[in-house]
Amino acid sequence: MEKDLSDYRKSYEKGELLLGNVPENPLELFRDWFIEVDTHFNVDEANAMTISTIGLDEYPKSRVVLLKKYTYEGFIFYTNYNSEKGQAIKNNPNVCLSFFWHAAERQIIIKGKAEKISENLSDGYFESRPRGSQLGAIVSNQSEPIDSRDTLDQKLKVLEEQYEGKEIERPDFWGGYIVKPIELEFWQGRPNRLHDRIRYKLQKDYNWKIERLCP
Ligand SMILES: Cc1cc2nc3c(=O)[nH]c(=O)nc-3n(C[C@H](O)[C@H](O)[C@H](O)COP(=O)(O)O)c2cc1C
Repeated sequence: MEKDLSDYRKSYEKGELLLGNVPENPLELFRDWFIEVDTHFNVDEANAMTISTIGLDEYPKSRVVLLKKYTYEGFIFYTNYNSEKGQAIKNNPNVCLSFFWHAAERQIIIKGKAEKISENLSDGYFESRPRGSQLGAIVSNQSEPIDSRDTLDQKLKVLEEQYEGKEIERPDFWGGYIVKPIELEFWQGRPNRLHDRIRYKLQKDYNWKIERLCP
C-alpha cells in the first residue's frame, strides 16, 4: 500500500551546534564536520554534493558532483566545461553547493563563485584518474543529446584502440572548478524542529560574520 508521506516524522537528536563552540573560519568547521561524517558515520560518498547553477534559460538547476578537494580558498570539483553546468557558470559564476548527510542529521549550504582552476591542477588530477575515466571524459559530450547507448560504446571502443599503449592527455574541455565561498550555513537537526543553524557571511574586510538563524 502506498504510504502517506504526511505521516513521516523523525526527531533529530544526534548533535548540537552552538555559537560559543564554532571556529571563526567556516572552512575549519567544514573540515571538522566532513572528517567526522566521513570517519564516524556510515556515509557512502560523503563528498557527493549538489551544485545549483542559474542556467542560460534563467532557471536554477541542481545536480550531484563529487567534491575532490577543499582548502581555505574553496571547494574543487571536475566536470566538462562545455556541459550545461559549464555553460551556466560561464554566463553566471554564482553557484550554490549543498551537502546533506542524513546519518549525521547535518546539512551544509554554500553560496559562492565558481572559477576554473589552473590547467596544471586539472592536468594533475586528470593524470591521477584511471584510464577508463580518462577515456570516458573524452568520449562524452556531456549534456548533449546522443542517439543511442550503442553510439557511446562504439566511440569508446574506437578511442581505446586509438590510445592503446599511449598516454591520454586531458582534453581542454574538461577540468576543475573551484567554488570560492561568500556564505556558508551549517544545519544540525535538533528535536521539536528547533534545529541549529549557524550562518557565516564574508564581509568586505574578509572577516566572517557569524549568526544563529531561526530554524
Ligand atoms: C554520485 C554522483 C556523482 C557525480 N559526480 C560527477 C562529477 O564529479 N562531475 C560531473 O561532471 N558529473 C558528475 N555526476 C553527474 C552529474 O550529476 C550530471 O549528470 C552531469 O554533470 C551533467 O550535468 P549538466 O548536464 O547539468 O551539466 C555525478 C552524479 C552522481 C549521482
